[in-house]
Amino acid sequence: MRRGLACIALLGLLAFVSTHGPLAGLSVVRVVPETKLKLTLLQRLLAQRQSLDIWKEPACVSCAVDIRLTPLESDDVTSALKEHGFKPTILIDDVQLLLDYQRNQLFKRRSAEFDYGQYHTLDEINDWILNKTNVYKSLTLLFNITKSYEGRMMTGLKISTPSQFTKPAFFIMGGIHAREWISPATAIYMFGQMLDRYKIDSDITKMVDMFDWYLLPITNPDGYAFTWTGDQNRLWRKTRSKHGLCYGVDPNRNWDIQWCETEGASKDPCSETYCGPSAFSEVEVKGVAAFLQGIKGLKGFIDVHSYSQLWMSPWGYTRNLSKDFQQQDAASAAATDALHKVYGTKYAHGSIANTIYIASGTSTDWAYGKIDVKYAFGVELRDTEKYGCLLPEDQIIPSGIETLQGLMALASYVKDN
Ligand SMILES: *[C@@H]1O[C@H](CO)[C@@H](O)[C@H](O)[C@H]1NC(C)=O
Ligand SMILES: *[C@@H]1O[C@H](CO)[C@@H](O)[C@H](O)[C@H]1NC(C)=O
Ligand SMILES: *[C@@H]1O[C@H](CO)[C@@H](O)[C@H](O)[C@H]1NC(C)=O
Ligand SMILES: [Zn+2]
Repeated sequence: MRRGLACIALLGLLAFVSTHGPLAGLSVVRVVPETKLKLTLLQRLLAQRQSLDIWKEPACVSCAVDIRLTPLESDDVTSALKEHGFKPTILIDDVQLLLDYQRNQLFKRRSAEFDYGQYHTLDEINDWILNKTNVYKSLTLLFNITKSYEGRMMTGLKISTPSQFTKPAFFIMGGIHAREWISPATAIYMFGQMLDRYKIDSDITKMVDMFDWYLLPITNPDGYAFTWTGDQNRLWRKTRSKHGLCYGVDPNRNWDIQWCETEGASKDPCSETYCGPSAFSEVEVKGVAAFLQGIKGLKGFIDVHSYSQLWMSPWGYTRNLSKDFQQQDAASAAATDALHKVYGTKYAHGSIANTIYIASGTSTDWAYGKIDVKYAFGVELRDTEKYGCLLPEDQIIPSGIETLQGLMALASYVKDN
């Protein structure tokens, strides 16, 4: 309900803004395959157009599929869809309008204090980590993973409260896909609460004490920094390494597990799901993998994405269920039930391949398949129907609050199982 009202208010504002800018005329269309046959047909149609930017892949019968189109692509793709009996509708009429609105909000800033209700640049996020590790010296440690392709240090924050026993570890990473800004914002909110309300809120205290908590807010720093360099780059997803005429590898198709073996990863360097020239070709991905391998007792792992509202466990590369699926999915159910209780936000759960699409070379498969992290998840945050990757800032804190409840329930389940 709250969200519904916010949408209406926003649309009211947008109606009075005119559109020009690098993304003027860019739209996002939605189609819903109603039968198994239609689903397969749509998958095939989209596979023939590898350069398209698919925001939401065809995954299941009656599930929405969102495709971002340039004005040039628009007529061609829309008529191809119609020819095959699909009825495309408009999800976002003009991406530029949304960007204009969000950019205006970004200018209306900034206090010296870190504001959790705003999106932040990479530098601001790194300052936040420095600040937190200074303020909470006895509870935290700053860690560095490696320098990115373009030379940015990948920095994270570890929370480790005093304990007589060695605790299991829980690793959360955000921002592996550059444009999914709600991912780092939500993760940062949760870790901020875990520190600021430790020993104040008993549920938080209990949760924080259960594990050594690691947060890497920005797993793809070059891509993330790039999305802050102008509207034309706001929708960048991949890393920034160069491959022939095109830039970037999908860092969530680059892990060394069934690397590039299935239809869910592309060998075309210009594709949004390019798996890279080899497994671990991306220094960021290789660095995180080595870091994860070095964590003793790593029991929980979440790679945070947006959007679609899904809580998913392995496998991504096959529809076959993992041998631990029952427990993994029960953990997801615990998380999504707790999350739902806060504002009624509905998350689906299941294995990656059965919930969204087959994808090989993903972080979650790797954490489970290669280093035995039984509770490895890929989470897709808000929303489902309105903004896609361009979630407005006024949803950051609600997303943080509900996801923190989900994480608490998940932590309890994982601890006991
Ligand atoms: C750093 O932390 C202190 C203490 O909580 C706070 O007063 C200060 O505003 C913080 N600085 C930033 C840039 O967040
Ligand atoms: C992390 O990297 C930064 C930037 O290179 C450096 O200033 C800092 O000392 C490093 N910290 C640790 C703990 O390695
Ligand atoms: C999935 O399970 C089937 C039946 O047990 C098996 O034949 C097939 O090889 C499995 N596929 C993968 C990718 O593991
Ligand atoms: Zn993603």
